[in-house]
Amino acid sequence: MVSTVDLSQTSRRYLPQSQEHALSPNQSLLPVTAQVSPADHLTIGGCDVPELVKQFGSPLYILDEATLRATCRQYREALRQHYPGPSLAIYASKAWSCLAVCAVVTQEKLGIDVVSAGELYTAIEAGATADHIYFHGNNKSLEELQYAVAVGCRIVVDNWHELRTLVTLLETAAAPVTILLRLTPGIECHTHEYIQTGHLDSKFGFDPDQLEAVFAYVSQQPGLHCIGLHAHIGSQIFETQPHADLGDVMVHWLQKAVQHGLPITELDVGGGLGIRYVESDDPPSIDTWVATVSQAIAQACEQRGVPLPRLICEPGRSLVGSACVTAYTVGSQKTVPDTRTYVAVDGGMSDNPRPITYQSVYRALVGNQMSTPLSETVTVAGKHCESGDVVVQAAALPPLQAGDILVIAATGAYNYSMASNYNRVPRPAAVIVGNGEACLIIRRETIQDLVRQDCLPAMLGNPTPSLE
Ligand code: LLP
Repeated sequence: MVSTVDLSQTSRRYLPQSQEHALSPNQSLLPVTAQVSPADHLTIGGCDVPELVKQFGSPLYILDEATLRATCRQYREALRQHYPGPSLAIYASKAWSCLAVCAVVTQEKLGIDVVSAGELYTAIEAGATADHIYFHGNNKSLEELQYAVAVGCRIVVDNWHELRTLVTLLETAAAPVTILLRLTPGIECHTHEYIQTGHLDSKFGFDPDQLEAVFAYVSQQPGLHCIGLHAHIGSQIFETQPHADLGDVMVHWLQKAVQHGLPITELDVGGGLGIRYVESDDPPSIDTWVATVSQAIAQACEQRGVPLPRLICEPGRSLVGSACVTAYTVGSQKTVPDTRTYVAVDGGMSDNPRPITYQSVYRALVGNQMSTPLSETVTVAGKHCESGDVVVQAAALPPLQAGDILVIAATGAYNYSMASNYNRVPRPAAVIVGNGEACLIIRRETIQDLVRQDCLPAMLGNPTPSLE
């Protein structure tokens, strides 16, 4: 039956290309291990996706260990190959902070970028060592700074308020506190305006006109050991030019900082490499991106006669985004005559708020019918009480029935980490798959979990009976 169908008109069209044309994982819609079983089911990491849903419930985040590890290795290998000095890739854990993901990237010898006490705690619990943790954020609380100082991680100082607060903590610090300074490089890139951060009107980092004063101040603080400068220009970027331009800006400021006597040995160029969410997305490969930033820094150092710093980069989305899919179960459908058909799934904006937040587009496929022609165009709707809760507009799919398994590709980044309990919908479970085995990495929330932090004070009267 399968052989009579034009497979390029089925969900198989989204499978990664064959090994000889292996793409950089960020250029692949599906995890690198995605295949189709004889039963015409999608498999990832050797696991049958509809079976995983039966076993672990729906919706389900399915993370492919092989893709995640391969991506970590590509970053490390590309840095080794293209950058003539020392280097370190650190995972921007805001993309997906959980013990398992942080443990895998730590095993792969990457550092971790954290932006809150919660992410810092997760990184430490996952086994990351303090000197491999970089703490970002434009409004770290006093408690967060105290925690970071106690742990001894690197602190990426964002502004004067933070700098002065940190100085008040130095008296109690056992050793000098290692910091980097974040600057706003004044580089614009073409991405959604909410995720641009490098242009001058940004809430992040010191403005260039503050920097000399900051360097002078920091150089007078013996308790601060300022080893580096940091900048991040935005996310889901497909152009390489902004990162090529960033090199010279950073080396320029490195030179100035050294003139102020700061012992700068690291430049951290942030993250930002985009991934493929739909076929028309055309991000550069990890290798190309790393080559661009490496050459930009190396060239600027050579031109300015500056010794090569350690190069740090902070991929988030491109490290974990393409390694995961979300599997949903199809429920109700509604056809509005002459307008559209809505196919509803059992999740939506609570497990993936990116479409409603950034109008992000995703690819949908059917995990239990990989070779059925995509004859319908439907709107995949979420289950939340909000008309804008649409997972995919105009999705090309086969005719669907309740119980079919709808899979959304490339959901590893900023999905779980931005998930909510809107409408008191419990957050889904997540599994990691590899070599035909699946293990739970995040337990599904229960409805009891949802009321766990609630309080019913006596003044409100008698509590209603517990659901437990
Ligand atoms: N470093 C810093 C300082 C960052 O602020 C970010 C992302 C990264 C690294 C990682 O960037 P990536 O490699 O993931 O592009 N929620 C948005 C994305 C926000 C990105 C915030 N910062 C989204 O879902 O598209």
